[in-house]
Amino acid sequence: MAKQFDVAVIGAGAAGMMCAAVAAQNGKRVVLIDHAAKLAEKIRISGGGRCNFTNINTAPANFLSANPHFAKSALSRYTPHDFIALVKKHRIGYHEKHRGQLFCDDSAELIIGMLKDECAAGGVTWRMPTKVESIDKTLEGFLLATDTGDILADNVVIATGGLSIPKIGATDFGLRIATQFGLGVVEPRPGLVPLTFDGPSWETFAPLAGIALEVEVETGSGKGKGNVKGKFREDLLFTHRGLSGPAILQISSYWQPGTPIIVNLLPEIDVAEALIEGKATLKKQMGNILSQWLPARLAEGLLAAHGFALDARLADMQDARLRKLGDAINRWSIVPAGSEGYRKAEVMLGGVDTRELSQQTMMANKVAGLYFIGEAVDVTGWLGGYNFQWAWASAAAAGIAL
Ligand code: FDA
Repeated sequence: MAKQFDVAVIGAGAAGMMCAAVAAQNGKRVVLIDHAAKLAEKIRISGGGRCNFTNINTAPANFLSANPHFAKSALSRYTPHDFIALVKKHRIGYHEKHRGQLFCDDSAELIIGMLKDECAAGGVTWRMPTKVESIDKTLEGFLLATDTGDILADNVVIATGGLSIPKIGATDFGLRIATQFGLGVVEPRPGLVPLTFDGPSWETFAPLAGIALEVEVETGSGKGKGNVKGKFREDLLFTHRGLSGPAILQISSYWQPGTPIIVNLLPEIDVAEALIEGKATLKKQMGNILSQWLPARLAEGLLAAHGFALDARLADMQDARLRKLGDAINRWSIVPAGSEGYRKAEVMLGGVDTRELSQQTMMANKVAGLYFIGEAVDVTGWLGGYNFQWAWASAAAAGIAL
């Protein structure tokens, strides 16, 4: 005999635990299923172990989706302040680190503990580790065949997240279930991911691994299907295989393969203008001038790449050459060979097509009782706590509606 529930939530990560807790505290009989042996690994490793659990500046503009309006309803009904109230209720210390990003003072484990306690307060039944083998819609409800026995539920919530970091249990389960029930999926790809480079254009930069600096980076024209313009001012890090750091993770979500990213390595200074106008007043040697503005190794690399000797005298340089160098620093255009992929990506872009879901409840329009929440849905946030805020907000929207 299958065990009966009002709601079966599959995936006990950020969105799944939140949704189960909300629905159970509203009086629903909820079973929460996860295939992993260890609970909520992504929360545990998030924010360097301190979980950047929300961003107080969250707005719909901080998310990518084929339908940028979809997330508005859920985000406006469950805000960062609602989640902060929960964190305060559980006496978890937190602080703002950078541009509205809130982190735990101690450990991400406290957020996991909090969500577990909220599930317990509603009397959620746990099935973990449990593998869901199939889901069928029957006259009695959804029949879930699992390796720990069948489950019958009036509603099923898919909260199995995205494809990033397969080694801690990420799967394409959500996408497969969407396809099984005839729902469209927006092609998934890795987001918030380091970019890789190769070929002759990268040779100058390969030895610069370890150098970090604040840059402005942009990509996209904003014209054409799926071409969204992105621009960020954040830190960039040179690595052995390419570029990383917050600036690159952010822009990676906007980058389309085969197109360039444009990096302004010195956003505060118009280099060509400063060099040309400074011929009489600046230090004499090119190496000395540039290493006042940029990390010395980067300055040396850039000068060498453009055929300048370190001790070349600024006063002797033609304006045209200085303009070219200025352009290479203020508008460095480079085409990534690829990305580090799901192995290193913080999120998956794409997912269940939002046109298939109700923006109020997250239920599939054509399959009554089937819900998708969290990262499995085609809503992806910027770096900085936005992805958890989407997990909480979409989970609360479904949890209240169930
Ligand atoms: P999540 O991945 O949390 O949960 C999915 C659950 O489903 C998992 O428990 C998994 O085991 C389970 N599951 C998967 N397939 C299954 C199957 N077939 N059967 C049963 N269970 C299955 N975001 C942010 O806002 N701030 C941050 O600080 C960070 N930091 C960060 C660091 C790193 C290294 C990564 C990889 C990601 C982040 N993120 C982040 C992103 C954030 O972790 C992510 O967006 C949310 O966890 C998504 O929540 P979900 O509940 O949708 O999926």
